[in-house]
Amino acid sequence: MVEEIILSHSILVKLFLAGLVVGFFIPMLTKNKPLGFKKASFIYTMTFQALTTMIAFTGIVAMVTGKIDMSMSIVIMLLIWGLLMFVEIKKYKLIKKSNIENEEIHRLLGSAFVKITAVQVMLVVMMVVLKIMEAKGAISLS
Ligand code: HEM
Repeated sequence: MVEEIILSHSILVKLFLAGLVVGFFIPMLTKNKPLGFKKASFIYTMTFQALTTMIAFTGIVAMVTGKIDMSMSIVIMLLIWGLLMFVEIKKYKLIKKSNIENEEIHRLLGSAFVKITAVQVMLVVMMVVLKIMEAKGAISLS
């Protein structure tokens, strides 16, 4: 049972990573459509939050059903989760409030979107790599 929950947690993390990669294309595909950028950014953030909520949910359910104690590894996951959410909400609010019809603002936000996505991808990849290293016994995160 716990194995299945951890497996779904792991699949959701990979799906989330794939979703983040899609995010790189949003500014590119909406280069000449400021309103399209705003709309796509809204859909992206909603999907982002749905997936991160499912990741947290499966993680917490795994902890409860598997009686898994708090560990260094889980603390890192919680910190990364909080950071991902914080940055995403800030980014979304900034885009929502901006005067996107202004060409310069649209360009700046598009470039910020790509940079923020790169940081988010890096955080998730880092966590996946840490878990792989832990599973291989290269490091201990207990
Ligand atoms: C509220 C947030 C989270 C909680 C409570 C949580 C909890 C857990 C638990 C209990 C496990 C299984 C036990 C273990 O390996 O330590 C696990 C595994 C894992 N988690 Fe999380 N997690 C959370 C967020 C995240 C996030 C944001 C990521 C990615 C950035 C992530 C990536 C992973 C990975 C890669 C595994 C290993 C899965 C496997 O063994 O196949 N987790 N998590």
